[in-house]
Amino acid sequence: MCGIVGYIGPKEKKEILLEGLQELEYRGYDSAGIAVIEGDKLSEYKAIGKLDNLREKTKKYESEGFGISIGHTRWATHGKPTELNAHPHLGAYSYVVHNGIIENYQELKNELQNEGVKFLSQTDTETIVHLFEKYYNSSNEAFSAFEKTIKRLEGAYATLLITKAAPDTIFFAKNGSPMLIGFDKEEIYFASSDTPVIGKAKEVYYLEDGEYGYVQDGKVHLFDKDGSTSFTTQALSADKILAQKDGYRFFMEKEIYEQSRVMSETMMGRVLDEAIAFDELDENFFEGISSIKICACGTSYHSALASAYLFERIAKVRCDVEIASEFRYKEPLLTKDTLFITISQSGETADTLEALKMAKRAGLKSLSICNVDNSSIVRESDTAILTRAGIEKGVASTKAFATQTMVLWMLALYAGQEKSTISKETLKNEITAMLQTPKALIVTDTLHTKLNRLSKRYLHGHGFFFIGRDIFYPLALEGALKLKEISYRHAEGYPAGEMKHGPIALADSELFTIALMPKTMHYDKIKSNVEELSARDATICAISPIPFDLADDFIQTTYDAHPMLEFFEMMVVTQLLALEISVRLGNDVDMPRNLAKSVTVE
Ligand code: F6R
Repeated sequence: MCGIVGYIGPKEKKEILLEGLQELEYRGYDSAGIAVIEGDKLSEYKAIGKLDNLREKTKKYESEGFGISIGHTRWATHGKPTELNAHPHLGAYSYVVHNGIIENYQELKNELQNEGVKFLSQTDTETIVHLFEKYYNSSNEAFSAFEKTIKRLEGAYATLLITKAAPDTIFFAKNGSPMLIGFDKEEIYFASSDTPVIGKAKEVYYLEDGEYGYVQDGKVHLFDKDGSTSFTTQALSADKILAQKDGYRFFMEKEIYEQSRVMSETMMGRVLDEAIAFDELDENFFEGISSIKICACGTSYHSALASAYLFERIAKVRCDVEIASEFRYKEPLLTKDTLFITISQSGETADTLEALKMAKRAGLKSLSICNVDNSSIVRESDTAILTRAGIEKGVASTKAFATQTMVLWMLALYAGQEKSTISKETLKNEITAMLQTPKALIVTDTLHTKLNRLSKRYLHGHGFFFIGRDIFYPLALEGALKLKEISYRHAEGYPAGEMKHGPIALADSELFTIALMPKTMHYDKIKSNVEELSARDATICAISPIPFDLADDFIQTTYDAHPMLEFFEMMVVTQLLALEISVRLGNDVDMPRNLAKSVTVE
């Protein structure tokens, strides 16, 4: 959800900014822009749409000597994706980029407009630059003007400001949206995440909420609510290799294929011969815990829903799952014997982060399951378990979901082990199944070719129902979400047994039902549900290890001995089906319309 980069130093700045923005483009691609100040020369370029448009526009531009520079890739919140609304926003002599939402912007805008300031855009961000210039005009003190500006802002922001009034300085502030500072000797970088600075900066500092300051002469001056403060940098881990497509057509496709390999990493050192181990967790981690509450959004919410079945079944501990944006405003009743789990790929989702903060304020023990080390959610949690999926670039989440689900399955077993709710034999059987997961996730040519051919039959119609029972119901929700995200076709996930309570009214031959029919979980029940739909002429695509005569299309899966192996194999089928339908419809698989990878606004 918007990406920010900044650079201060002697190198050519355009390429540094564009390369950085390329790494962040998945966070938003409605428009992009850069601004550079070299002495008293201001240069600014903006373009709507993908970064390539900005690249084209800046073809002839090259920055020269020492200078300060900022860049932004946008996911529109206030104001349409137009060039005027693209960042950086210019005042009379300063530029600003911002990720987040300034909640009191209307009030600030009214105040500035009453004082005669003219606004060019419809964004909340533009208020920052005008406020800064208002304070600077009356004081001639750039830092104090910036400090006064920041103190007026309410909401979430990561912002960078450059000004001709201080052409050797970048001003920065962070509250609620991610930002880091990268260092390589006297050169200093800013970015929303560490991918843009890999290979450039050696050390990084992840800014904390409420921190702000400025960079000048290769030195960072950092402040928080108590005034000047210090910080310690950390080495940027070298194994975060930039994700490339490696011959696949899309990052999403690469990430689907990667699931088998990354799953081994997720399990490494955690799945032992006869036990599950988490170095991250203190001894007797579940002591005193009588219930679990999980908060997450989107795909992460679906992995949470699946895990609730596992926590209750395996560990005999009550587990509720809530969508983070709902939880935040419902005045939830929280008790200290509840373990609060947040799940997030990015670790930056604003609603999930806020839910976590609420739980912490209520004194709950918190655990996050996350893919990004050092992300805000990881830093905010008492304890974190990393999913180790590697950088996920496709906006539609795949391997993150798979690895989250695996961590949750392991965690349910870990809890069962600690609470002695499962026998040694059951644990051993679960582990044996778990170790087969990487194999169940392998994408075979036969499967992919079949789904490619089949996809052409699912390009029309008035919608899709993905149906399943038990853990296959959250998988149905996830299958439907994948399809709607990248195909823009209407799709819903439904508990199979619930269809006859209303949705079956939609059934006709133009209603496509994707039926998840595992052998190991309520097969006969779901078979009856699918028969009911078939009797009403719905088009059925059945996914099952057991051949099913009534299916119009049938995808035979191979694992039939453990529900989780069936789950993972069927998950791959639904991901590939969505991908192939999207490709046939000519959509941008990796950057579907209206979406952003990391949703740092509520
Ligand atoms: C769907 C998708 C989103 C995210 C959701 C939460 O493919 O990616 O639904 O799952 O925005 O994001 P994280 O997991 O980063 O908190």
